[in-house]
Amino acid sequence: MDDLNVGRSGVFTRRRFFEQLAAVGGVSLAMAGMDALGFGFASAATMPPPLAGGAKKTKVVILGAGLAGLTAAYEMGKAGYQVQVLEARSFAGGRAQTARKGFQDTDLLGNHQLCDFDEGHYINIGPWRIPYHHQSTLHYVKKFNVPIELFNNDNDAAYVYFEKGNGKLAGKPVRKGQLAADARGYTAELMAKVASKGDLDAALSPADRQTFIAYLVNEGRLQASDLTYKGTDGRGYDILPGAGIDPGPGKLSTPFAFSDVLSSRAWFVLTSVAGWEQQRTMLQPIGGMDQIPKGFVRNLPPGVITYNALVDQIQQGPNGVNVSYTDAKGAKAEVAGDYIICTIPLSVLKSIKMDVSKPFLAAMNNVAYAPVNKIGLQMKTRFWEENHWIYGGHVYNDIPGIGTISLPSGGWHSQKGVLLGYYAFGGEAAKISALSPAARAKFAVEQGQKIFPEYGANFETSFSKSWHLDKHNLGGWAEWSEDGRKTAYPLLNEPDDRIYLAGEHLSYLGGWQAGAIESAWQQIAKIHARVHKA
Ligand code: ALA
Repeated sequence: MDDLNVGRSGVFTRRRFFEQLAAVGGVSLAMAGMDALGFGFASAATMPPPLAGGAKKTKVVILGAGLAGLTAAYEMGKAGYQVQVLEARSFAGGRAQTARKGFQDTDLLGNHQLCDFDEGHYINIGPWRIPYHHQSTLHYVKKFNVPIELFNNDNDAAYVYFEKGNGKLAGKPVRKGQLAADARGYTAELMAKVASKGDLDAALSPADRQTFIAYLVNEGRLQASDLTYKGTDGRGYDILPGAGIDPGPGKLSTPFAFSDVLSSRAWFVLTSVAGWEQQRTMLQPIGGMDQIPKGFVRNLPPGVITYNALVDQIQQGPNGVNVSYTDAKGAKAEVAGDYIICTIPLSVLKSIKMDVSKPFLAAMNNVAYAPVNKIGLQMKTRFWEENHWIYGGHVYNDIPGIGTISLPSGGWHSQKGVLLGYYAFGGEAAKISALSPAARAKFAVEQGQKIFPEYGANFETSFSKSWHLDKHNLGGWAEWSEDGRKTAYPLLNEPDDRIYLAGEHLSYLGGWQAGAIESAWQQIAKIHARVHKA
């Protein structure tokens, strides 16, 4: 074996160092090594638990074929367990749904929709983006050969539209990059002037003061001579530079006034990709998020999932479990086993008859589920690319009921495109969801028209989804209160005898597929340890 610190070429590389650690001590040692060096990934769950040593003829009944249920079925099946999955819908994936031509949905208000987007176009009505550090999700993406592409999660060329602010920018679409450049520039100018007058000397050594000013000049693109912000080519041009004499060097754009930037309140969006969950570039499966559940299904033995199975009752006794359900034809049926992994959202599960302790039942009532809605609008031209030169990313706005408008990160330069016309949470989502699908689309088009005048003339057809109006979910994701996390959450993470719960709701990665997958990993490891102890 090579020396730990020296690669084959004799040159030390960090990557080589981690590869060697992994070879010697497995992934966890490599992770510990990365943590020791300050990379901070020590506790990230990146691999399924090894379920070694056989399954001792154990049968596990899995309720729900979303990401948690599929993960449990795949890993336990591979380890030799008998697995049977009961799924209420006619397809797998849970919330990982993609609406494309022929996709159907009926909500609790009785609104039936049949998607009639053109072939090749789709909208991810559930999860739509994957952070680079959700290695658990990416583990299966890679394993099942699901092709992925970049998801543009932040675009400086995209508009920001804040109509509730004040000043000249209120109610006017402005490019995010211009707003960002001006906010940074003016802030840096103020700080540089204060620092150069000596007003920060209590906080800075003389050497640091000079370096800080140099940093601010760079950060804000200031004029070094007088520390003022006069704009930057990064915010664009009024006349674009080009060839020859005319247009020649072009003409730089003029910055907005600082007071207009401030009073617009649109600066609020500038930290949208500064959090851990959101990055400027993320990932998405090519062709739709449902490619991930389809990858699982391709890799499960046929017949493992019983579709259209509505769970009526969950029973357990000293020797096993029993689940009663209503099948596709309306007939009653039962399935028995040794353990249950139940991934049904708590919002739905709390109304199903289940043999669990009173505290367990009470804990299920201790979590709220968020109203969340989305709408895909098929446009007959990609005017955002053709007329506005915006290639993907989000149009942030403060229009009530719209939340985020998002432009597709693929299908560039094709004839048509499906954009996300709204993506809202809470009361605003509930209000718009109460409308008929046609009225939801009318609302989205009318509001979007304020930003893109081409909306109305280009709109062809829509597909909307309201997760709180889906009887199998009754909400977009679990929202834990601080108190619920302390009391109910730990209780529900432990089994009630033979019943184990899993899903995004039992993770700190709420509303992400990674939460569902990693929760399933934890529960299958517990069942396996129990089987081997018995
Ligand atoms: N994970 C959800 C999203 O990306 C909340 O929008």
